[in-house]
Amino acid sequence: RRQPSRKGSMADVPKDLLREIRHLEELFTIDTAKLKAITEHFVSELTKGLTEEGGSIPMNPTWCMGFPNGYETGTFLALDMGGTNLRVCEVILPEEKGEFDIIQSKYRMPEELKTGTADELWGYIADCLQQFIEYHHEGEELDQLPLGFTFSYPASQDYIDHGVLQRWTKGFDIDGVEGKDVVPPFEEALKERGVPIRLTALINDTTGTLIASAYTDTEVKIGCIFGTGCNAAYMENCGSIPKLAHMNLPPDTLMAINCEWGAFDNEHVILPRTPYDVVIDKESPRPGQQAFEKMIAGLYLGELFRLVLVDLHDNKEIHIFEGQDIGTLRKPYSLDASFLSAVEDDPFENLSETHDLLASKLSLRATKPELELCRRLAELIGTRAARLSACGVAAICKKKDYKTAHVGADGSVFNKYPHFKARGAQALREIFDWEPKKGGKSARDPVEIVAAEDGSGVGAALIAALTIKRVQEGQL
Ligand code: GLC
Repeated sequence: RRQPSRKGSMADVPKDLLREIRHLEELFTIDTAKLKAITEHFVSELTKGLTEEGGSIPMNPTWCMGFPNGYETGTFLALDMGGTNLRVCEVILPEEKGEFDIIQSKYRMPEELKTGTADELWGYIADCLQQFIEYHHEGEELDQLPLGFTFSYPASQDYIDHGVLQRWTKGFDIDGVEGKDVVPPFEEALKERGVPIRLTALINDTTGTLIASAYTDTEVKIGCIFGTGCNAAYMENCGSIPKLAHMNLPPDTLMAINCEWGAFDNEHVILPRTPYDVVIDKESPRPGQQAFEKMIAGLYLGELFRLVLVDLHDNKEIHIFEGQDIGTLRKPYSLDASFLSAVEDDPFENLSETHDLLASKLSLRATKPELELCRRLAELIGTRAARLSACGVAAICKKKDYKTAHVGADGSVFNKYPHFKARGAQALREIFDWEPKKGGKSARDPVEIVAAEDGSGVGAALIAALTIKRVQEGQL
């Protein structure tokens, strides 16, 4: 039933609605020249972030100091505190190069936790770890298991097993955590429950992705997450990190940098924000933060779509969904990125799937022209997200002068959003003036964004292994 592609049929769309669609196209389209200008500014912001003075992008040193060689061994726990799930893994790195075994359990991350208290958060996480251990190691006498904790928020680290939360992102808003080291209260919660775990490394999901992907593909130089949030990590030479000069680290020592590029352009000098982006920021728990992320990450894609539809209903002469109750549509964050994915994926010429989705989710009956508008709008929002993300990837490649690279990418948007990969690759070609690929499917671009290995599982375990090795060798 799936058709290979669907030609938009704007022919039936009345003129005034078409005018609105054209206006949205202008607002959301990022042309090649703009992609290049954003990338240039991005490069200078990456560099600035590494200096003492700093810029809008934090460029956090992670104390993950080198790539795995493939021969890391041991048994590790990995914990991933994501937005929707909490995942606990036991990862076994065997003698064989580049291999791993993994068992895992997923726990729901209750929505209330995101705006609850710090005690509730740490208590809940410790309970999940305790359950995991009881289930998988019932009755065993356990030594303290080393844990790699993937904490995917910006943290300042002076050591790999500590991290001061700079600020919550992705809609989290828990009092009393920002500006503090997250490790002591977490360990306290474990101790209270007698859970035999020792936190070995606190890592970002991007760093985990970088390391896990490099474990199986030595071409990988960047790790990216395109999910609820959006961010990247890459390996820097300590000699190029002026803000670490006081540490007197050898200049060619490697240090993974968690860019926290979601904060790019917080001062609003280059990104073409639409009025809808401005509303998202204003209504968020942290206005003024994560300007780049709010235009591209999964958390915000559905909300952008919703805001445009409400605006078209309320403020324009065309009055979409005329005479209908748009009460459900008025509810903030009532649409998520998977809704947009489904609209973009609707295989039917008459957009019947989109029609049914609008009916079931929002109790709206859309006309054919309104369905065409929804389809185009989803395409515009999804395309902008992919193209802006590519600017960040291109900027790291330019800064590091990578002529070729694999970029290990993970996250719901990368893995599930239709055409995200192809649109990102197209944007990279425009930024770098690469010729269109010749030789069909097997032809390769110099920089390719590829599906990552499991960063918050295998990556976290590898970083814990690398850390233990460094400690044993007296390097930490
Ligand atoms: C947000 C977080 C960052 C994380 C990203 C992807 O940007 O601040 O730490 O890497 O989301 O999860």
